[in-house]
Amino acid sequence: MSKNTLTLRDNRTGKTLDLEIQQGVAGPPVVDIRSLYGEMGIFTLDPGFKSTASCTSQITFIDGEKGILLYRGYPIEQLAEKSSFSETAFLLMKGQLPNQQELDEFNDLLTHHTMVHEQLLNFYQGFRRDAHPMAIMVGVVGALSAFYHDSLDIHDPQHREISAIRLLAKIPTIAAASYKHSIGQPFIYPDNHLDYSSNLLKMLFAVPSEEYEVNPVIAQALDKILILHADHEQNASTSTVRLAGSTGANPFAAISAGISALWGPLHGGANEAVLNMLHEIGDVKHLPKYLKRATDPDDPFRLMGFGHRVYRNHDPRARVLREEAQKVLTALGRHDDPLFKLALELERIALEDDYFIKKKLYPNVDFYSGIIESAMGIPSNMFTVMFALARCVGWIAQWKEMIVDKDQVIGRPRQLYTGAAQRDYLPINKR
Ligand code: SDX
Repeated sequence: MSKNTLTLRDNRTGKTLDLEIQQGVAGPPVVDIRSLYGEMGIFTLDPGFKSTASCTSQITFIDGEKGILLYRGYPIEQLAEKSSFSETAFLLMKGQLPNQQELDEFNDLLTHHTMVHEQLLNFYQGFRRDAHPMAIMVGVVGALSAFYHDSLDIHDPQHREISAIRLLAKIPTIAAASYKHSIGQPFIYPDNHLDYSSNLLKMLFAVPSEEYEVNPVIAQALDKILILHADHEQNASTSTVRLAGSTGANPFAAISAGISALWGPLHGGANEAVLNMLHEIGDVKHLPKYLKRATDPDDPFRLMGFGHRVYRNHDPRARVLREEAQKVLTALGRHDDPLFKLALELERIALEDDYFIKKKLYPNVDFYSGIIESAMGIPSNMFTVMFALARCVGWIAQWKEMIVDKDQVIGRPRQLYTGAAQRDYLPINKR
């Protein structure tokens, strides 16, 4: 028996199964259990997939114990400091950092796909003004598949490539339009002279009646926020995109499913929930009361923006965002922003609290992102839209990787059935 195996033994029958332990480039090793049911007639059960790898991937790596996040091997801190979102998007999708010519060509390609079909804009009229912008994103992104019948063959590499470019290029236009619709302002068309984040800011905040000047500090901070949110291995929304894509659904439909999953307050919706929580807490003097509630097992209140399924140390993105918040607020003359000071104090006392220390709960990416975006003038109901906009490239990269994965099959989990045993139908007069 090789020492590099995990031996399972069914003590009811004495039957054993040796599973080879496979070690990736980094992270915990795995055992491939695909043969388990066929060999042993047993399923595994893992609600929430806490001990289950759904795929092999080369895109993103997280070491939750050490608080490490790598995109294609590059530390997130270095990319946030030195890269741009479009360069990081190239890296995530292609696997390598581009040279100058490749980056220029990629940016040019994105720039010339930023406009949406004029008829797509009609979809917005079907939404009430007070519709949550995430509801609009789910609908409009899914509707893109109605406009690109010429490139929906997921087995055609060129169709996959043009769909990826269209999604990446158009998601800012669609996101900005969802904001403009909610405030009753006219949509602003993309400006091909601007880079990705500057163009997004202009589409969000320009109005036809006056010149709009992009604030370079805000544009740079936004670009960094997009880099930090771009991918995060097999999180709930990425797993949703992979599962939807595994059925052969077109990429627009799969990404729309990912947007829906991201919306939940336990996932990408947490950034909006953090701002709501900070407004509810209101003042540092109320922090002890809320911390007590957060640590009371009988109280459903949770500190939004804290805790993570994988990180049992600081989320490296939260650290970068905390520094960025300080920079942006200072640049905007709001270094005394009360919400930021409240968030810093909440983080300080939580990290000193035994409950949070014992459960290894740290601020995650959602804890500070809303404070920066709020300072930029982005309303809280748009925070998750910005998250979806950034994560779109991660979803696309993961979807493309899945489609060409030789191990790829339709995702179809099994279950442990605990319902009624078989029984016969009774006529209603006999019940
Ligand atoms: C994102 O997966 C990703 O990578 C996601 C993401 C990405 O980039 O895609 O990183 C983005 O979704 C970040 C997370 C944003 N969500 C929040 O901030 C919501 C608040 N946090 C949680 O509800 C919670 O921490 C989760 C959902 C993030 C993680 O949940 P888990 O892994 O299922 O852990 P858990 O809920 O079982 O928590 C473990 C313990 C529990 O106590 P016990 O049942 O063991 O007694 O810690 C407690 C929880 O009650 N706990 C918290 C807490 N988070 C967990 N207690 C108080 N406040 C919190 N925030």
